[in-house]
Amino acid sequence: MKRVLVFLIGCAVVGAGVIGALIVVFSADPLAATDLPDHQANLENGKKIYTIGGCRSCHSPHGSGSDALPTGGLVTTPVGKFSAPNLTPDEATGIGGWSDVDFVNAVTRGVTPGGSHYFPVFPYASYQIARLADVLDLKAYLDSLPPTKADRADHQIPFFVAWARPLIGTWKALAGLDFKPYEPVSSKSDTWNTGHYLVRGFGHCGECHTPRTAFMALDTGRWLEGAPHPDPTCKGDVPAIDQLAALTKDTGEMKYPKVNTLTLALQHGEEWGFEGMADCEMGDVQTNLSNLPDGDVKAIAEYLMSPEL
Ligand code: HEC
Ligand code: HEC
Repeated sequence: MKRVLVFLIGCAVVGAGVIGALIVVFSADPLAATDLPDHQANLENGKKIYTIGGCRSCHSPHGSGSDALPTGGLVTTPVGKFSAPNLTPDEATGIGGWSDVDFVNAVTRGVTPGGSHYFPVFPYASYQIARLADVLDLKAYLDSLPPTKADRADHQIPFFVAWARPLIGTWKALAGLDFKPYEPVSSKSDTWNTGHYLVRGFGHCGECHTPRTAFMALDTGRWLEGAPHPDPTCKGDVPAIDQLAALTKDTGEMKYPKVNTLTLALQHGEEWGFEGMADCEMGDVQTNLSNLPDGDVKAIAEYLMSPEL
């Protein structure tokens, strides 16, 4: 009996040691203020990044419409509901007191101002490739919104998930996050590269359209091949979008015969009779796409007609 007890205590000590070591080895690696470029903020670009980033979709109360301020919302996932806090510049309940570098570290590295980790339901695994100038424009845009007091809701998740926050650094390493800004593909056109940057980065399209590995990282070998829906209240799978150029309707017609057709589909969705673009949050993504400049939607469509990771 005593031996069993000693064995169990031994296991607990070793286990705690391993967990402690993982937390220390994979601790947060934030940028310093001196790593940021000198930058003249462009509010119009900031608004565009906010729109394609889908920030409002998670950070506003569910179903509140495309003009709603990001005063906080709840995000449903298979492990529970996560609270996406107030992003208005209110000092007490929003991010009014944040420095530029706090914001850059949150959005591109998933690191809190206190040096801990955010849960990856906040899609920084995609945003990590963002250009710093775009992130600074995004911050300037959020700073231009009316400061609105709205207390943050608690996460509605099991305690063992909440306690795992310090281990998210280990997840970041297992998921292969390297926090490198986007590099254009030299053999492709500028438009294709713009689409590539927007789809992989701020658009975070892969977070829903790409299947995940056992570690819950995006399975980059199956980029945009379709996946189970991340919101368990949604039925069916998120469709593949890696073969859109070849997609044929039941009638034998091509669904998206040209880049222009796909551009119109992304801009107008079901309103213009393009099926399969409304259900389960895609409707909200499509609303965001309809508010982007034409050139950017066209770039996304051009990229999606021949996507590569
Ligand atoms: C899929 C849902 C989702 C999207 C899209 C999203 N976020 Fe979030 N965000 C969250 C969640 C959930 C948290 C809380 C994470 C945690 O507590 O670990 C969060 C946290 C944050 C925080 C930290 C706030 C604080 O007070 O600590 C910032 C800043 C933020 N998000 C900014 C953004 C911006 C900017 C965008 C758009 C580019 C964005 N988010 C898009 C879900 C989302
Ligand atoms: C929150 C999850 C989610 C995100 C993020 C998301 N999608 Fe979707 N997408 C879906 C779902 C679900 C559908 C199917 C909707 C339906 O059946 O009505 C869909 C459908 C589509 C379709 C139609 C495919 C077809 O077969 O005709 C396209 C195109 C598309 N998405 C592109 C995108 C692009 C581009 C992005 C990034 C800007 C994106 N999606 C981000 C969930 C998502």
